[in-house]
Amino acid sequence: MMGLKTLLLIALLAVLERMLAAGSHRGGFVPGSPVNISREDRGLRRVVLASAQFFNNQSNDAFLFKPSAILKAQRQIVKGIRYLVDLEISRTVCRKRDNNNNLSSCDLQPAGRLQQTFQCHTEVWVIPWQNATRTQVFHCRA
Ligand SMILES: *[C@@H]1O[C@H](CO)[C@@H](O)[C@H](O)[C@H]1NC(C)=O
Ligand SMILES: *[C@@H]1O[C@H](CO)[C@@H](O)[C@H](O)[C@H]1NC(C)=O
Ligand SMILES: *[C@@H]1O[C@H](CO)[C@@H](O)[C@H](O)[C@H]1NC(C)=O
Ligand SMILES: *[C@@H]1O[C@H](CO)[C@@H](O)[C@H](O)[C@H]1NC(C)=O
Repeated sequence: MMGLKTLLLIALLAVLERMLAAGSHRGGFVPGSPVNISREDRGLRRVVLASAQFFNNQSNDAFLFKPSAILKAQRQIVKGIRYLVDLEISRTVCRKRDNNNNLSSCDLQPAGRLQQTFQCHTEVWVIPWQNATRTQVFHCRA
């Protein structure tokens, strides 16, 4: 009985692997190529939030920045899921020293001297079965 269960498990894993490799995109899918995804994608939302946190952690700015636009969002299936995202990150009115950890409650700076937006590109690799997220690329320009 154990042998049969093990075989079934292996077969199931093989099917899952194929499903994952094929992605959920219908029609003309090339395995491993990046495809556009919805701005509402939950994984994307996490990646975008994580990039803002990464940015804030690296910057010496007195204010927190938050994502202000997603210019391009793609997902690629490679031993997990790779997100390739072009986004804008803008200065908010929240000061870092206030330790507000809810970015959505921070409004963007109004037009003026403190208004600033960076264009960023990030590539984040998520390995769900290891519960791991790795930022492989992150760069921004004014
Ligand atoms: C913030 O940066 C420090 C030092 O560079 C690092 O040790 C820490 O893990 C970072 N935290 C996050 C959430 O990225
Ligand atoms: C993917 O999204 C980008 C930016 O939004 C767009 O320029 C491009 O045409 C899209 N590609 C496809 C295949 O829909
Ligand atoms: C963060 O702030 C937003 C806007 O003020 C609010 O709707 C949301 O409930 C807050 N989330 C948390 C976890 O406090
Ligand atoms: C995955 O990691 C996050 C943060 O590191 C943790 O909160 C969560 O409980 C973990 N989930 C699993 C299934 O290990």
